[in-house]
Amino acid sequence: MSVTIDYSNMLARDDASAEAHAALSESAWSATRGDFARAQAVFASQRAHGVLGFLDLPTDAALAKQSTDFVAATRGRYHDVVVLGIGGSALGPIALRTALRPSGWNSLPDVARGEWPRLHVLDNVDPVTILALLERLELARTLFIVISKSGGTAETMAQYLVVRQRLEEALGSEKAKEALVFVTDPEKGALRPLARAEGIRALDIPANVGGRFSVLTPVGILPAALMGIDVGHLLAGAEDMRRRCESEELAKNPAGVFAMLQYLADTTLGKHVQVLMPYSDPLRDFAAWFVQLWAESLGKARKSDGAHVGPTPLAALGATDQHSQVQLFMEGPADKTITFIAVKEGGADVEIPKRHQDVAELAYLGGHRLGELLDIERRATAGALARRGRPNMTITLDRVDPWHIGGLIMLLEIATIYAGALYDVNPLDQPGVELGKQFTYAMLGRADAERARQEWNMLPKADPRWSV
Ligand code: PA5
Repeated sequence: MSVTIDYSNMLARDDASAEAHAALSESAWSATRGDFARAQAVFASQRAHGVLGFLDLPTDAALAKQSTDFVAATRGRYHDVVVLGIGGSALGPIALRTALRPSGWNSLPDVARGEWPRLHVLDNVDPVTILALLERLELARTLFIVISKSGGTAETMAQYLVVRQRLEEALGSEKAKEALVFVTDPEKGALRPLARAEGIRALDIPANVGGRFSVLTPVGILPAALMGIDVGHLLAGAEDMRRRCESEELAKNPAGVFAMLQYLADTTLGKHVQVLMPYSDPLRDFAAWFVQLWAESLGKARKSDGAHVGPTPLAALGATDQHSQVQLFMEGPADKTITFIAVKEGGADVEIPKRHQDVAELAYLGGHRLGELLDIERRATAGALARRGRPNMTITLDRVDPWHIGGLIMLLEIATIYAGALYDVNPLDQPGVELGKQFTYAMLGRADAERARQEWNMLPKADPRWSV
């Protein structure tokens, strides 16, 4: 079982080609040890201050048990599970479903799902989607998991209010409560006291674990366990990676290598856009999870001088995006790194039949396998990018299974903390989303939003001259 990073294509082999391609030379890479040591010192201090709670999740047996006990007690009761949540409270469950359950999970018959429930994640407030889902569900056999670390996010609270009303109309007040479970901070926010007052079940997101680092709390673990995913292996893979990523030796520390390469590429080589491109359909939504983690953690004002910093993450999927974004990666601005994710054993595979042997465009494909084609296309794309001086690296997993996904989650979470230290930002907050939230509260008439209302009213209004 292994998760490795091959970063040969991130480095120029000699100083001349480094200069020609604005690439990182081996000597520049070797000179980064000091930066990494400083990032590790910040990491160690944050850990000592108890703010990196996500590191302890793989070994927090009591927390994992909250989810596994819940599943043991309710097995067979639900046909459908619906997550109400947004951002870090939704992207993890979506990524786990796509990666670790068979393709098309929600469309499979009960038997093919091993009688485990379907999982729907409502991560928006568009009534088109919500109403369509509520119409389809058999509410008496559905569990709604309301996930919110802060216990007050407008989108999630609005969804909850709509769902609660529907449940009460359909099932009556007591059964409605039984159809709900909250996943939230142990103390703070509106959900916890509601749970206590009304006897609604509630699972914990530890106080020192923020939204986008919470996939290994009941945020991800409860939906995963409800779908029959082996959460023990998920946590074991994460713990294995956590240990690897604490190595003081950069060359042995995958999170350190990933963070250092991306940071240097952005800040010294102008590679501001950082693409994550799995060649694996099961990892399609994992890339979206990473985008939020990297963007919301790193895009902010530098602590020392307020300068605005941070890379722009971008999700792509191989081979699909070879016919969409790869033209841009190859010949557009030289402002990107591309991280491929390769999977050694993809699981299913099928031989491409030998037909139309007299047609050149088809004949060469016959006898190969689809998985082989996918992997060769990845290698070809990586090689072509390298040939054009476009830096890229490849994370390889042996398989897409709980252990490897746990490892990949932990690798990227720790890399995010190291990168935060390198950029000199706080990777754990998100002050930039606050003003938009306040304006929303102001327009919806929230009582404590008077200042935001005044600021909103002072904004210049749309000018009809500039509308077409
Ligand atoms: O990563 C984060 O902190 C955010 O993206 C949150 O997950 C998102 O805003 C939802 O917050 P909450 O879980 O508090 O409802």
